[in-house]
Amino acid sequence: MKKVSLTGIKPTGSLHIGNYFGAIKPALALAAEYDARYFIADYHALNTMKDPAELNARIREVAAGWLASGLDPERVIFYRQSSIPEVFELTAMLMAFTSKGLMNRAHAYKAAVQENAARGEDPDAGVNMGLFTYPVLMAADIILFDSDMVPVGKDQVQHIEMAQDIARSVNANYRQPVLKIPQAAVRENAAVVPGLDGRKMSKSYGNVIPLFAPERELRRLLMRIVTNSQGVDEPKDPDTSQIFLLYKLFASPEEQAALAARYRSGGMGWGEAKEELFRVVNRELAPPRERFQAIIADPAALDRILAAGAEKARPIAAATVKRFRKAAGID
Ligand code: TRP
Repeated sequence: MKKVSLTGIKPTGSLHIGNYFGAIKPALALAAEYDARYFIADYHALNTMKDPAELNARIREVAAGWLASGLDPERVIFYRQSSIPEVFELTAMLMAFTSKGLMNRAHAYKAAVQENAARGEDPDAGVNMGLFTYPVLMAADIILFDSDMVPVGKDQVQHIEMAQDIARSVNANYRQPVLKIPQAAVRENAAVVPGLDGRKMSKSYGNVIPLFAPERELRRLLMRIVTNSQGVDEPKDPDTSQIFLLYKLFASPEEQAALAARYRSGGMGWGEAKEELFRVVNRELAPPRERFQAIIADPAALDRILAAGAEKARPIAAATVKRFRKAAGID
């Protein structure tokens, strides 16, 4: 039997090229080797997103974005967290095995407390119980589906360790392997994507290229990439050029070698390098952009895909809860 991988996607922002190379592509590649499950963590997003129209739009946008990027709902399981009531049943049970002290140590909560202290406010100002218990809900997401492996960025490793701790205390208490212990797979070698200003592409730096920007907008953004003042005739160093670093993500090895040679020989200005970059970026992103537009234009079809995913997911979830309830004497 294949091992299970599980990816949780928090629908809090629009997808950009950094997400595409850093998270989406590597996560979709897992479907070749694993029994892969992907879900939209909409209840996690609720902790910070209180505007219903905004949250609803993000959920649809992110779901459509993953489908457009190649997630095949026939081959993997793709669902919304909120469609699986067992997530919340398991969360309640796991709460009984989670010490409050463990939650006190969670990075996100600690950071909020420290910021409050720095501002001289009450330590828990602006902290809701959803934020405080975030790691328990996340542990439930993972444990519910007997996940062997969870691909995450470094910032999420502590959450996986907490899920392990919680699952272990359940198993220790009942002296049997009731719950599967998940492992984190940290994305160390995922591509770092430079943003428009040369820093890492990140929503918080405001330097992102949206994944599904219309063609004209995409071109306009790429033309805005910051360059140095070298003139057209001067030879240029591809390895220190943001344009070239981005180019490498989209171009074939032959194309990369050819453009690097043009950099080094001089005679090519930054404007031309940007045009060449636009050509390869648009070549890769035009097909998913079209798919994205088509999916967003048909909300009922998107709902059907997610509902079918929930239907596949629920029996797995129910089996885990049943096992746990039986072990716990609540059956
Ligand atoms: N906390 C994750 C993030 O912020 C999202 C998430 C929620 C998740 N539940 C999960 C990731 C379960 C992996 C497994 O990105």
